[in-house]
Amino acid sequence: MDIRKSVRAQYLKFLDREPNLDDLDYYSNELETNRIELNDLILILRNSNESKELLKHQKIPELETCSIDTYNDIRIKGKIISSGYRNSEKRYNEIFKFCKKFNRPISVLDLGAAEGYFTFRLSEDFSGVFIAVESNPERKLLELCIKNDNRKVLLLDKQMNLKNLKNLKEVQHFDVVLALNIIHHFDEPFQDVLDTLVSMSSFCFLEHPNPLENKSTKNSQRLETEKLNLGSFDPILLTKNKSGLGNSFNQKLERNLWLLQNLQSKTIDRGWRGASKYDEEFGPGNHISIKSNFDKIDIDYGLRDEKRTWIQGIDLRTFLENNGVYPTNNEIINLIDNLKIENAKDLGPHNLILNGARLFVIDQDDKFDDVNTKEKLKDFLKQSGLL
Ligand SMILES: C[S@@+](CC[C@H](N)C(=O)[O-])C[C@H]1O[C@@H](n2cnc3c(N)ncnc32)[C@H](O)[C@@H]1O
Repeated sequence: MDIRKSVRAQYLKFLDREPNLDDLDYYSNELETNRIELNDLILILRNSNESKELLKHQKIPELETCSIDTYNDIRIKGKIISSGYRNSEKRYNEIFKFCKKFNRPISVLDLGAAEGYFTFRLSEDFSGVFIAVESNPERKLLELCIKNDNRKVLLLDKQMNLKNLKNLKEVQHFDVVLALNIIHHFDEPFQDVLDTLVSMSSFCFLEHPNPLENKSTKNSQRLETEKLNLGSFDPILLTKNKSGLGNSFNQKLERNLWLLQNLQSKTIDRGWRGASKYDEEFGPGNHISIKSNFDKIDIDYGLRDEKRTWIQGIDLRTFLENNGVYPTNNEIINLIDNLKIENAKDLGPHNLILNGARLFVIDQDDKFDDVNTKEKLKDFLKQSGLL
């Protein structure tokens, strides 16, 4: 792995944050000139007060009880090539029926996508952008993405925590979030995870274990004490499905599939993770409001006089910061090389929206930025350890 990338990876692992550029420069240089080895860097980060503080608040990981048996059917180019232990078709039919209501391309985030069944099926049936998030290499989702070769699909190879989700919410909005059997995997309060997922979406499909399920279900003891309150999301019960897990009693217990709606205002709060919030920069009421329905998406800049069309996708910075691995790094470099742009002013990666097949440039009317050519963009991404 490239040195800058591996320094960045250690920061994410031990400090749960991006390195600042000075530190990235410093440690990359120390490693390059053999003044330290990677193990030394790991020790430095692990022994730092910041890391110790973080560890104090981290729960000891529970024994991993989620079976790594194939969860969903494995699907390649429209064909099921092997079956998973959950019935996915019945759940997909409900999601399909609902998504049919959209008369426009849609964006979908599939958190904890496992073998990608829902992402792949939606990308076969709808236009738009379909982003799977899955970190377990045993699911082989990158390999499945490559085999499916569907340019509408993106993959973030990332174990999300609540903070990561909150960061994502501040910069992105999705028409649909799939939160299927994922919230109980989080260490943080289930309700906070659900609230954050609903807040970044217009609609959220939720499937959550039955509170009666036993130890074969991850975090089963918390299911009793942390019941989810769905009242503020206008919940509609779509169907019930057997858990399929554990002994015969547990297997028959049913999980509800809910459709939830975000009834609060839908906002984008900052330009990218490290930028100040629009409200702070331009005054209260200046965040971006998303006004979307089944026919169109309008964006409202509050008190600022700005109009622009919404482009479905995820900005390149957020994609790479969340370990976007599909499209692959090489494909991203090709997309940058093939960008058609004259007189670019600011090619910061948050100004490029990725939809899998293309990058779209936004926000070229304001200030000049140091990063204003394709070459400088690639250098910047390499310098930041993102490419
Ligand atoms: C029980 S499976 C659910 C699969 C699929 N969503 C479904 O319902 O058919 C949960 C998946 O989420 C992944 N996962 C768990 N916690 C995660 C996290 N914090 N971020 C991303 N993926 C996660 C696991 O690796 C696993 O593949």
